[in-house]
Amino acid sequence: MPFLGRLKSVQCWFLLGGIMSSVSSHPTWRSRWVFIMAAAGSAVGLGNLWKFPYILGENGGAAFLVLYLFCIVLVGIPVMMAEILIGRRARSNPIAAVTRLANESQLSKHWSLMGIMGVFTGLLILSFYSVIAGWSLHYISVAVQGGFTSISPDESGKVFGAMLASKGTLIGWHSVFMLISLLVVGFGVEKGLGNAVKVLMPLLFFMLIGLLIYSFFEGNFHASMAFLFEFDISELTWNSVGVAFGHAFFTLSLGMGAIMAYGAYLPEKAPIGRVVLSVAIIDTLVALVAGIVIFSIVFAHEGLSASDGPGLLFQSLPVAFGGMPGSTVIATVFFVLVAIAALSSAISLMEPAVAWLNESFNVPRWGGVLGFSALAWALGLGTVLSFNDWSKYTLYDKTFFDWLDLITTNILLPLGGLAIAIFVGWRMKEAYVKDSLNQDNPVLINLIWLILRYVSPVILLGIFTLLIANVVGFDLIALMTKD
Ligand code: PHE
Repeated sequence: MPFLGRLKSVQCWFLLGGIMSSVSSHPTWRSRWVFIMAAAGSAVGLGNLWKFPYILGENGGAAFLVLYLFCIVLVGIPVMMAEILIGRRARSNPIAAVTRLANESQLSKHWSLMGIMGVFTGLLILSFYSVIAGWSLHYISVAVQGGFTSISPDESGKVFGAMLASKGTLIGWHSVFMLISLLVVGFGVEKGLGNAVKVLMPLLFFMLIGLLIYSFFEGNFHASMAFLFEFDISELTWNSVGVAFGHAFFTLSLGMGAIMAYGAYLPEKAPIGRVVLSVAIIDTLVALVAGIVIFSIVFAHEGLSASDGPGLLFQSLPVAFGGMPGSTVIATVFFVLVAIAALSSAISLMEPAVAWLNESFNVPRWGGVLGFSALAWALGLGTVLSFNDWSKYTLYDKTFFDWLDLITTNILLPLGGLAIAIFVGWRMKEAYVKDSLNQDNPVLINLIWLILRYVSPVILLGIFTLLIANVVGFDLIALMTKD
């Protein structure tokens, strides 16, 4: 009974504990809100709070933001619809789902490779995700001890630097985070943590709003808004196109099956378009607010810089917290929320693989969980070392971590997204696709289908071509605009 396994596995997505209903033959979430919360739990994570602000800072602000939003709307949202559509129609783990739908439309069974690539991508992402999430655990321990009280930007930089230099600290917290994730996925945490997260995620949003108000009065809000919204096209580089494009996939958890797996539990009658829009809006708002807050703080303090890289969140926010009354509590709560946001994303990186191993190969859940997380943990050591012993070993100026991030976020996730868009837009029978969207407005159905068929894959292919051409030193834009 594969669905019994799936029922158990979905219950362990702690966001969803105790909220399944099995009235129909296949268990589904009781309301589309539960799905939205679950998908938002996967989407909102380190990508929004940690990564988005620093890549925005490194890539010049507003011009990058425009590009990123363009990718979210024209590629991210349609691909998310396609993933949910596949998951819901097949109602099984990503690999089995693709195989089943390929079968239904009489396509090659090799389409399942797309799901296998997703499992592999999830493994690679989890390996570095856990190390960075470990940073937030370390920051909780510093915050609890009042380590950020009245901290200067300079001292904040030193706290961060000292953490990176200490392999023991990084490995310790990386291990703790991996252990918590594997316990959550392995045990199937029901009501307890499920209810906790229902409170904690909204708390994260409220805290961000509080920080936004703080940064309005205490930070350099004006400079931050200018940096984010005053568009200057000359600041765009090829590199930033690739980064914005990849990040749209990373932040929405697309291209590796996480959202597809969640889609398997979306009630039949929920209109996919509206559901996806909600998730994308929540995700984008969290990233934008995090960006505005962080840059308001950065521009208000000498010694902090927009291009501080991966340390941006960890160096800038403690400076703001340190100056507030009750800094110990505020800083502690904030980093706890960061860690929880990371946990709900890490689970979705692990779950498709575990469910697949369980359903298709009868690997017990615990076996799958332990094996997968042991591999991700070991690979994570490479990321740990990238910030200290191995920082001198670079290839084209990039460390092991930089390469892992680049290969997964900028290549594998968009490739997975392209395969998904082609599968749904070009290979699946049109009637099945339109039927599965479950929108009542026929104009909207056709619009979504046309975007899935013509817009998203074309943009994806176009950007890939331009990026590859750029890598091999062939400036296509210059060639095209030459008269
Ligand atoms: N979307 C998550 C974040 O922004 C990361 C993630 C990527 C999760 C891919 C699942 C799959 O932090």
